[in-house]
Amino acid sequence: MTAITQSGLDALVARRRPGHSLEAAFYTSQDVFDLDMRLIFGRHWIFVASEPEVPEAGDYVTVQLGGTSVVLVRDDDMAVRAFHNVCRHRGAVILRDGKGFVGNLVCPYHQWTYDLTGALIHAENMPSCVGSPEHGLKPVHVRSLAGLLFICLADEPPVDFDDVAAQVGPYLAPHGLQDCKVAAQIDLVEHGNWKLTIENNRECYHCGGHPELLCSLFHFFGYTAADVTPAQAEDYQRFLRTQTEFEAIWDAAGLPWRALEDLHGRPTGFRTERLALDGPGESYTMDARQASRRLVAGFTQPRMGALHLHTQPNSWHHFLGDHAVTFATIPVAPGRTLVRTTWLVAKDAVEGVDYDVDRLTEVWRATNEQDASFVEMAQAGAASAAHEPGPYAPAEYMVDAFCTWYIERLRAGMGQ
Ligand code: FES
Ligand SMILES: [Fe+2]
Repeated sequence: MTAITQSGLDALVARRRPGHSLEAAFYTSQDVFDLDMRLIFGRHWIFVASEPEVPEAGDYVTVQLGGTSVVLVRDDDMAVRAFHNVCRHRGAVILRDGKGFVGNLVCPYHQWTYDLTGALIHAENMPSCVGSPEHGLKPVHVRSLAGLLFICLADEPPVDFDDVAAQVGPYLAPHGLQDCKVAAQIDLVEHGNWKLTIENNRECYHCGGHPELLCSLFHFFGYTAADVTPAQAEDYQRFLRTQTEFEAIWDAAGLPWRALEDLHGRPTGFRTERLALDGPGESYTMDARQASRRLVAGFTQPRMGALHLHTQPNSWHHFLGDHAVTFATIPVAPGRTLVRTTWLVAKDAVEGVDYDVDRLTEVWRATNEQDASFVEMAQAGAASAAHEPGPYAPAEYMVDAFCTWYIERLRAGMGQ
């Protein structure tokens, strides 16, 4: 792949045709990837983990965004902090595992030691460095949105996160994510660009390829009545009837359910909506019955449907009566993307008694593999000389909105 000059990047961005998919270079070019890491992942709020992944003081997770390693750690006051995972002595990476527990953060090279607030508390033979703010770990902005942890590498993060939290918080809070525990976490590296992963997630035009998911999910995500084919009409009517039944359940439980959508025209695009599930309507399982006998957050019955949340640039989530599942999308290379899926259940649920990990994860394990193959085929097509942007279906309007947001954010970063 030949390098793209700055004017080439400018032209690529300027050529974007609304209502159509992006040009192939957006998925294949190292230069675009570098731009994405700098202007998208370097400047926006990135979902990286959830609070139950660091339940106790000293618990940490690390995340790699391009060349930048960040550690999120719970401090002794139980606040989650984030730091650049780089020693202030000679710059070694401090924590090399993806997760673990520490009393202090000790650099393995010369043992400079930082407490959980990032302050340097020990540097052998260099006492004058100890306690100096100049030698403390560099902080990274971190926010918890009802237990979902977002970081921002920019000095001045987008301020609209407060507005997103105010709008979305009341949808998420009743699910008590902070009182959950991690039941399972699976990393899958998709052979495609991160934008293909997100685009694929933003539509259900392809959901016929998800037989396991369709045991519980109505495949009308993104559809209006006008988009429904005659063959789908009966199913669509059943979906509408079921949705009305669920709305009564949600109203009775005091749960907000109406779709909130603000996907572009702002730094932190988002969408949330509560949707009915098919059949018994309890969970993403093969029989749509609950996967964990312990419900989350004091729910009194399992038929709660699914709360969907999507945040740009990189996450989507589902909150159900018996569990939650979070998805973080982390770019690795132009054609490689890490999708980290985490299943969370009530803290007091007992594995093997209240839930079985295979049953809990079965549907999304299969769905993720299917999505990975869709992404891989789209990436393979982007390498072809014949590739050119094609039109989105009406039910793919969220994909179009994501691409609009993405181009807007590049333009803002490039000063266009
Ligand atoms: S580089 Fe960390 S102690 Fe020397
Ligand atoms: Fe899918």
